[in-house]
Amino acid sequence: MRKSDFFDNMERQGVAITYDDVRLKTGHSDVPPTEVALASRFSRNVPLNIPIVSSAMDTVTEWPLAVEIAKLGGLGIIHRGLEPEIQANHVKRVKFYLNGLIDQPIAVHADDTIESIERQRNERGWEFHSFRVVDQNNKLVGILTRNDFDLNDDPGQIVKNVMTRNLITAPEKTTLDEAYTIMSREKKKILPLVTAANELAGLYVFSDVARIKRGSSSDYNVDDDGRLRVGAAVGTGSEALERVKLMAHRVDVIVIDTAHGDSKPVYDTLTAIKKAYPKLDVVVGNVSEGSSAKRLVKAGADGIKVGQGPGSICTTRVVAGIGCPQVTAIYNCVKALEGTGIPVCADGGISQSGDIPIALGAGAHSVMLGRLLAGTKEAPGQIVMHQGNQVKIYRGMGSLGAMMDSRGARERYGQRDTSTEKLVPEGVEGLVPYRGTMSDLMVQYVGGLRAGMGYVGAANVEELREKGDFYRITGAGVRESHPHDIVITADAPNYHGGRL
Ligand code: XMP
Repeated sequence: MRKSDFFDNMERQGVAITYDDVRLKTGHSDVPPTEVALASRFSRNVPLNIPIVSSAMDTVTEWPLAVEIAKLGGLGIIHRGLEPEIQANHVKRVKFYLNGLIDQPIAVHADDTIESIERQRNERGWEFHSFRVVDQNNKLVGILTRNDFDLNDDPGQIVKNVMTRNLITAPEKTTLDEAYTIMSREKKKILPLVTAANELAGLYVFSDVARIKRGSSSDYNVDDDGRLRVGAAVGTGSEALERVKLMAHRVDVIVIDTAHGDSKPVYDTLTAIKKAYPKLDVVVGNVSEGSSAKRLVKAGADGIKVGQGPGSICTTRVVAGIGCPQVTAIYNCVKALEGTGIPVCADGGISQSGDIPIALGAGAHSVMLGRLLAGTKEAPGQIVMHQGNQVKIYRGMGSLGAMMDSRGARERYGQRDTSTEKLVPEGVEGLVPYRGTMSDLMVQYVGGLRAGMGYVGAANVEELREKGDFYRITGAGVRESHPHDIVITADAPNYHGGRL
């Protein structure tokens, strides 16, 4: 039976299914799992080197996790529980993470004291010690580096007495590679770039340049300028447009992130964003019906996010009584978009690494993970102890706590102006085990996906999307799939009592 027959058959019976209901059929394989290609797309113009995207949630994606997932080849979507300027700043931090060039370096004055600069560093949270020094006419007269702070034991010292005056500069179009060569040769920690009129055009700092040169990898998901890719979530209406305005020049993709994507405010916002920024990709969600996906693409969406209620922290299905189990929802939306070239992201409900090949086998181009990333070091929030175990907080954006904390979260569930006592949550708050670093964890998720592709006989994501075919399994099949009839005595890095 082909996949289409499988789902048509289900539809005739009025049955929709989800991850635990199915397993992929195996097939002949020419390619070992280590060699399968994982490249895919999140939206029309935003590629992925691994088909994994992080949820726009306040316990999942802020800039540190977005940096890490992009370095692994995926994509992070900065959540919208942050105030607009702060969200824009998170996007900026990701985009500048691999950018050795500081285009507007902070200036200190030649007559300032070292003490006053240290005070400003503390007040403003500057983590760096490299500054350009200007005179009264705002002309570059020197630079300060960490050495000038470390080797100076008089806090009252005036900057012009300790700064470096004999500057080695380079033309403003100097590339990162050229800067690395010059700085290594000249043993300079800072390389100011100057225009033909000798005005400062930017600054390279050696520690950043060296980190990029030595640490960059072809796995990184980077844009044409070599900067890490990042997305940002917005809601609807004027605040969404305000957010887009602050980020449009930097962000790679905007996600209109709502609980009901097929609704009028979403179409209005999509139309307004595409009109103002026709070149900016906009992914829209969430939906779970093919007809909704089709309508949104017709209205200009560059990607569709599928999932209404499958998430680990979601209560939408039980609170509102709606929704389609996730594997059927993915298949129906993908089928409805056939021939449009618009990718589908399967959002929520992934609880084992094996669910990733199932989502892609049903036709999705990528998966979005919340819970599976919330326990990482890079996710927001501290590690806390709970009953002797290290845990982190993970909560739904529709949970009471998230809705009380942020207008963005209330708006996601259509309750933007609702008073606290009248909020109707569609999510819960909880704890997840601390799981260490993203890169260690991702080895298991990507490893599971590779294994699945190997079993199916898919050399790349497109082949998995095409070849994916399913068995519907029973309760006995589920039981057989998990370890059974033994007492597990050693922890596996990818199996924790039935759930990752
Ligand atoms: P997982 O299963 O990966 O799901 O933890 C993450 C996805 O769940 C969605 N989300 C919610 N859905 N109520 C919901 O119905 C909520 O409070 C909520 N918070 C997040 C979201 O799509 C996310 O990517």
